[in-house]
Amino acid sequence: MNRRTFLGVAGGSFLIAGATYYAFSDKSNFVRADLKPDSNVKTGLTPDQRQIAYLASLAPSGHNTQPWMIRFIEPLHWIICNDKRKWLPAVDPMQRETILSIGAFIQNLEYAAHSLGYRCEFSLMANTNQDENVMEVKLIRSGSKLRYNAERIVQRRTVRSNILSVDLRAEDVKLLIDNEPDLIHFIPRTDKAYHVLNEQTIESNKIQSYREPAQKELADWIRFSSKDAELYRDGLSTGSMEIEGIAGWLVRNFYGKSNVMAKSFRDQNIKQVEKQVASSAGWFLITSKDASVGSLIETGRRMQRLFLKVREKNIAIHPMTQILEEPSIHQSFNVSVGIIDPVQFILRTGYVKKYPDPVSLRRPVERFTQWVT
Ligand SMILES: Cc1cc2nc3c(=O)[nH]c(=O)nc-3n(C[C@H](O)[C@H](O)[C@H](O)COP(=O)(O)O)c2cc1C
Repeated sequence: MNRRTFLGVAGGSFLIAGATYYAFSDKSNFVRADLKPDSNVKTGLTPDQRQIAYLASLAPSGHNTQPWMIRFIEPLHWIICNDKRKWLPAVDPMQRETILSIGAFIQNLEYAAHSLGYRCEFSLMANTNQDENVMEVKLIRSGSKLRYNAERIVQRRTVRSNILSVDLRAEDVKLLIDNEPDLIHFIPRTDKAYHVLNEQTIESNKIQSYREPAQKELADWIRFSSKDAELYRDGLSTGSMEIEGIAGWLVRNFYGKSNVMAKSFRDQNIKQVEKQVASSAGWFLITSKDASVGSLIETGRRMQRLFLKVREKNIAIHPMTQILEEPSIHQSFNVSVGIIDPVQFILRTGYVKKYPDPVSLRRPVERFTQWVT
């Protein structure tokens, strides 16, 4: 074999080895549409109960931790609980975001109940953000008067990419503010506060990316491979982080927690945030009157009502909460944007040309429900 023939054969073998490796690698993002239908695990739930619990769980949560549980006392008498195992102590030490997420879950649950012809009677049980029993709910059959289109719950998703720098139409802003101008504030890109939000979002992301406990916590909630995404069905998958193409393939096949702690990963995240804030129509800020558990739940519900309206208008919502999570930035934030009440949500927003399908995963119903015996 001469040198040229040898190089040809060697090159060919490499190509075959490469193609074989690729064929057996983790080739695509594991998304919601890839989930097999839930097995018929015995939960003792009726199809309605199961469907209401499932739709409730499609609520958003920080790092997609899904910090909720449902305890069934009777078939239509439930307690919504706070699942301590899903807290994020490094970025949410007071469980403020946990309660906001549970508020969004409760709003979904109520709309889901309406969609199946039930109304809900709620009574607050928690006195602190740490109490396990948060809300008692009784479901009452109400006929069909309160119907809600559950497709809105199914189709809602966080959108982080391709948000356009085009002004929101006044009628869309009005629809989303929903007669609550004291609690939902829109900051358009022509406003001085818009630039403050952009700059402080970048600054707080820089701080958080280099804060070891926060970065480690993030690493713990990333589901790098499709295998882990399917196994845990929570956290941030490559699909939900919108890492596509070759970058997604590299992360799924070669990345682990240690890569998240490397300088290159942190800097890449900061670059990504700079790119994101450079394009939007503005920001929605959602405030509460105080920081009580009841107000936080109401605020989570308010945010979710807004979130469930945007898809029909082709409007994206991207929560970016780092300003509220980094004390050195948070302390002067209200003054710098001219808002008195506590800000609970910071949402980047704007139109998108094509609305992507929901991709983030959820735990099966039997993993977050239990009967009280
Ligand atoms: C309280 C709260 C804080 C969040 N903070 C962020 C954030 O800072 N950055 C981000 O990209 N997404 C954030 N999200 C969005 C979640 O990551 C998202 O809801 C979750 O991954 C599930 O995805 P989905 O909304 O598409 O169902 C937040 C959501 C909630 C409820």
